[in-house]
Amino acid sequence: MKVKSICCIGAGYVGGPTMAVIALKCPHIKVRVVDINQSKIDLWNHKNLDKIPVYEPGLKEIISKTRNKNLFFSTDIDLAINKSEMIFLAVNTPTKTYGEGKGMAADLTYVENCAKTIGQVATSDKIVVEKSTLPVRTAEKIKEILSLNGQKGVSFEVISNPEFLAEGTAIKDLFKSDRVLIGSEQTKSGNEASKALVSIYENWIPKEKILTTNVWSSELSKLASNAMLAQRISSVNSLSALCEKTGADIEEVSNAMGHDKRIGKEFLKSSVGFGGSCFQKDILNLVYLSRYYGLNEVADFWYEVIKINNYQKTRFSKKIINELNGTIKSKKIGILGWAFKKDTNDSRESASIYITKDLLEEGAEIYVYDPKVSKKRVYNDLEMVFKSDNFSQSDIESIVKNVHVVDDYKLCFNSASSVSILTEWDEFKKYNWRELIKMMEKQHIIMDGRNLLDKNLMNKITNKYFSIGR
Ligand code: NAD
Ligand code: UGA
Repeated sequence: MKVKSICCIGAGYVGGPTMAVIALKCPHIKVRVVDINQSKIDLWNHKNLDKIPVYEPGLKEIISKTRNKNLFFSTDIDLAINKSEMIFLAVNTPTKTYGEGKGMAADLTYVENCAKTIGQVATSDKIVVEKSTLPVRTAEKIKEILSLNGQKGVSFEVISNPEFLAEGTAIKDLFKSDRVLIGSEQTKSGNEASKALVSIYENWIPKEKILTTNVWSSELSKLASNAMLAQRISSVNSLSALCEKTGADIEEVSNAMGHDKRIGKEFLKSSVGFGGSCFQKDILNLVYLSRYYGLNEVADFWYEVIKINNYQKTRFSKKIINELNGTIKSKKIGILGWAFKKDTNDSRESASIYITKDLLEEGAEIYVYDPKVSKKRVYNDLEMVFKSDNFSQSDIESIVKNVHVVDDYKLCFNSASSVSILTEWDEFKKYNWRELIKMMEKQHIIMDGRNLLDKNLMNKITNKYFSIGR
């Protein structure tokens, strides 16, 4: 089967970039990206490409080449379903905040709603592709919803095709994927659906990098890959604490470990703690699944990855407080970087949120600068985190008044007691740190949560430069 028309439900960090790349690499395929969020779709259609809702290096150039040629953004979900042979689901699957599995299991409401709509609306056979990250055996549930809601004579095949892109390098990752994974039922129709999707990727991905498996292996491989990556960061972060006590340098330790081919160099960078919308959520999901199947030791093992990540963030805020004589009440603290990593405007689960919360609770006055994250988003993140900790609306309002989101990074330094680097934006390396530190209080500390700056140089400029594990 040669696919000519596809759609993707969910125009977020995955749906937008993946469909843009498919549209670019497959000019013979018409690609529709749909979402319930009208304002997001309006931004995807904005004349000014700097306004598209996802910031990713290289994305706007692709959008300019494909939009309104074979790539279309709209809120007409029913039309997109009916015009497409293949429907990708790239909706959000956050951690549940209510009911059974609260705080651990994935909330499948959005995926279920899509399956229901597809069932109700489709008048011809469809291949439904799970692009969202889902718990093992979700395909079974989707199939059930589709057949319960589907019209007579219409059949559905559900296949799994998890996405492995990382934000900030999404386009690079999509162009040159390490692998594309496609899981399908081991039946004739399952194999045909899988082949149809293979034929799309074959337009730019070498055949040997397209792996086909059964559905459950594919679903689990996605959770497992994220857990393994996050585990490496927590491992190295746990060692960073030991380095600080012993005089070892985590950068040297990581480098030495990474030279072993069996270990490898990637994902050994010590930091203030991993963030992002997926690592924590997917590990919690893995923990929940393991407990569900009675595998408590397995669940405990993976949960430690989250515990170390929380420890790393708390350790950082405590260090700021301790170094400023145990009190930061009314002291000015600058935060450089709100995004969970560089080259993205995404701040979901960013360490900055949690560190800022700790500092605000101690009465500090916070100045935040990030080159890509909007003011609105910073305030939103803080409101959400205090809300989830059961703070009242009036308390939240009075706390958040102490946060100033600024467009000029120098305002983070002026009369500040501390400045922390929490995202590894390249521009921070280029600042004139000698001059900036002169603007700060005499008793000050510079906290480098990303080991971004040259330690030797910084130690010449100030005797209060702290980084992670060195
Ligand atoms: P996102 O929040 O950026 O986007 C999801 C979009 O789905 C939102 O715009 C939302 O409005 C839309 N949506 C929700 N319900 C809908 C419905 N019923 N109909 C139409 N639209 C609906 O999320 P994301 O970061 O793109 O992640 C999507 C999925 O991909 C998640 O399962 C995530 O775990 C997975 N994933 C994310 C990344 C990443 O780097 N962000 C990478 C790989 C996999
Ligand atoms: C991660 C995975 O890398 C992707 O393969 C996966 O598709 C995606 O999750 C997902 O499922 O959402 P992402 O979260 O976008 O991608 O970004 P990463 O590059 O993995 O970084 C995650 C966090 O770990 C960031 O806060 C980053 O700063 C931190 N990190 C990363 C470290 O602290 N040290 C490292 O060595 C690497």
